Amino acid sequence: TGAAPDAADRPASLAALADAITTCRRCPIGECATQGVAGEGPLDPQGFSGLMIVGEQPGDEEDRAGRPFIGPAGQVLDRHLAQAGIDRGAARVTNAVRHFKFVQRGKRRLHQSPTAREIDICRWWLEAERALVKPRIVLALGASAARGLLGRTASITRERGRPLPLEDGSELWITAHPSYLLRLEGGARDEQERLFAADLAAVAARLAQLG
Ligand code: URA
Repeated sequence: TGAAPDAADRPASLAALADAITTCRRCPIGECATQGVAGEGPLDPQGFSGLMIVGEQPGDEEDRAGRPFIGPAGQVLDRHLAQAGIDRGAARVTNAVRHFKFVQRGKRRLHQSPTAREIDICRWWLEAERALVKPRIVLALGASAARGLLGRTASITRERGRPLPLEDGSELWITAHPSYLLRLEGGARDEQERLFAADLAAVAARLAQLG
């Protein structure tokens, strides 16, 4: 596993990319998952706002349904996107890692964070998707997504709230993962909700600026 395939091998369309993702075995995660989860976006490229939103990996519900961000974290994301005035349907929504990594505990499947190596292997798909979608702004939700885009570990605290240039001329904005918000309570939750909302508002303003 982990051989670095060439950019020339990239699927030529988003449909071909989605097909190829589900059978990927470059790392072992795909052995246990139900299916690979490809990114989702407007069917008509004319309807694309230029924003790509990148999460970590599919969760339990996403693994079953084959669609990104439809479970609890997706609901938090949707609420904040609506509040910021960002149209999810006009964005590309995808993940840094394409299969659900979990440990089975009785009937429950508990999320496991991907390793840096797994994120780096799966990065090939994210780069192929970015090359096809050509976003102007990429919003990384959490550290795994940031790693998938930068190829290095990033500090959300230090690097959130401002654009970082990516090599293709697009801008990377980093914020927390919505699942992180779900794990907090009380004042800590309020504070992180506020920071998340501020990051999304900054992205919305930048999108509007770019027209
Ligand atoms: N969390 C993620 O990072 N991505 C999803 O698609 C769902 C939950």
